[in-house]
Amino acid sequence: MCGIIGYVGHRDALPILLDGLRRLEYRGYDSAGVAVLEDGQIVVRKAAGKLARLAELTQRAPVHGQVGIGHTRWATHGVPTDENAHPHTDCTGDIVVIHNGIIENFLPLRERLQDHGHHFRSDTDTEVIAHLIEEAYARLPETPERMETAVRQAIAQTTGAYAIVVLAREHPDRIVAVRQISPLIVGRGRGETLLASDVPALLPHTREVMIIEDGEMAILTPERVTITDLSGTPRHRPVQHITWDAEMAEKGGYPHFMLKEIHEQPRALSDTIMGRLDVEGRVELEGVQAPAEFVTALDKVWMTACGTAYHAALVGRWLIEHLARIPAEVDLASEFRYRDPLVAGTTWAIAISQSGETADTLAAAREARRRGSRLLAITNVVGSTLAREADDLLYIRAGPEIAVASSKAYLTMLAAQIMLAIDLGQRRGTAAPELLTDLIHGLRALPGKVQAALALEESVAALARRYRDVEHLFFIGRGLDYPVAMEGSLKLKEISYVHSEALAAGELKHGTLALVTPGVPVFALVTQGHVYEKTVSNIQEVKARGAEVVAVAYEDDRSISRHVDQVIRIPRVHDLLAPVVAIVPLQLFAYHVARERGHDIDQPRNLAKSVTVE
Ligand code: F6R
Repeated sequence: MCGIIGYVGHRDALPILLDGLRRLEYRGYDSAGVAVLEDGQIVVRKAAGKLARLAELTQRAPVHGQVGIGHTRWATHGVPTDENAHPHTDCTGDIVVIHNGIIENFLPLRERLQDHGHHFRSDTDTEVIAHLIEEAYARLPETPERMETAVRQAIAQTTGAYAIVVLAREHPDRIVAVRQISPLIVGRGRGETLLASDVPALLPHTREVMIIEDGEMAILTPERVTITDLSGTPRHRPVQHITWDAEMAEKGGYPHFMLKEIHEQPRALSDTIMGRLDVEGRVELEGVQAPAEFVTALDKVWMTACGTAYHAALVGRWLIEHLARIPAEVDLASEFRYRDPLVAGTTWAIAISQSGETADTLAAAREARRRGSRLLAITNVVGSTLAREADDLLYIRAGPEIAVASSKAYLTMLAAQIMLAIDLGQRRGTAAPELLTDLIHGLRALPGKVQAALALEESVAALARRYRDVEHLFFIGRGLDYPVAMEGSLKLKEISYVHSEALAAGELKHGTLALVTPGVPVFALVTQGHVYEKTVSNIQEVKARGAEVVAVAYEDDRSISRHVDQVIRIPRVHDLLAPVVAIVPLQLFAYHVARERGHDIDQPRNLAKSVTVE
């Protein structure tokens, strides 16, 4: 999520760090900072806001030295402020750390460190790493390997996903970095070594790179890169030559941000779930503070959102009603204010928004609060307006989403709501414990299932070639398949400009069936066991009118192929979790149709990423 750059060599580090951060700006960030070793001291400069603020700061108060690290932060813990910007130092200021990812167990670590007298300056999970290294350093004898050993001992106490980069005053010739899930790439130059979270930051200096793998440490000096596993055993790593141009590098080698973000979904889902399911199988949603009496006395959950977030809310409503047995309603945010809604003190209002800045969603959320409801925000952007105004907060941790068409934010909104519904089911005692256990296991397995669904890309692209010139098509489904049909249809419309409509399958015969003529493609979602036969009847209705039916069904569904022309087979999951997996081929379908038609996929016509006007 965050951007990382590091330099050790013979040139002045600061301009290299700032240039590297500029080349990572496209990823989105909310604060930035650098640390440079200057005359044997670590000097940190950091600021909330855009890089221009950091550049201004370093112009007013320059730092010079040949070793340094830099970071652009996308907040996950703690709002974007100067204090929460990276780098973070230990108590002495002799150790400095930047980090991309999430330290799952940072709260107990922080409490223990504070009990031992460590002083914290930020709200971040990252700062615990600096203090853990400080503690480990103090225990170790002065040897040339002291820094690497201290970092290893520190990170052995953490769980989570991270790329961590460390500078220490005692070892001014090196940078030490560790990777667990979050990307880290080392670049070799002449008498200098660089490191970054993404290739674009390295391209002006070198195209010779080494990829650090999960569970590895890299020790960088001007002349040498040593890669080891976490017990210190050396690992051999071949040097790779990067042929990407700058634009390709920004997109991680994908032709569009949307495709990159679709492929990032397994990791984004892991981040959403991380640290929120404890070993006993309970859900711990850190920002959701609604007291037990409120949760028990709730008589309604009222949800609001726009576009893709609205489709996510429709899934959430279903889950909350099913698991927590509370009546739940969903309103389009743009409609809610104008209908004199019945929300009050015993209603929990939930507003869902990737950006947290959508004008209609904010207005609806404010209206619900004005009428006395407690407000829960489910959002991606830490410190966004919605997040600031809410009583309860559930961050989806999708990371920056750059393509206008939402993909990973949708999946992570679903995962966040599944956890919320499980939590409510547990707290209200309304769901069978075996069901909740199944769902928690299923939730943990979801990143892998989504990864498997991504393998469908080639066959979905073939389908896109087949249907690239159709005038309109339909998506149908029942139960939880219906909001997925709506989201699949929206994706197709917004980037491919093909007209499509989503229908609750049972509604077809009440009018729209008149539009189904020979050759019209109909995508039918059939993941919901309890309405399977009913959906099959609706498939037969459209088949009888000559439609070409493509089913999205589980891989082990043996009977569906008898009723349809083609089947997209997705991995089997619990039916309540199916929307997370079933949307993936539809995202890919929309993407490939748009690509076939030669559209500007990341910036579709007439649309903006954040809709801040009513
Ligand atoms: C569609 C899409 C939009 C947004 C909508 C709400 O792909 O991205 O429909 O979902 O504009 O935006 P947020 O979630 O930022 O409130």
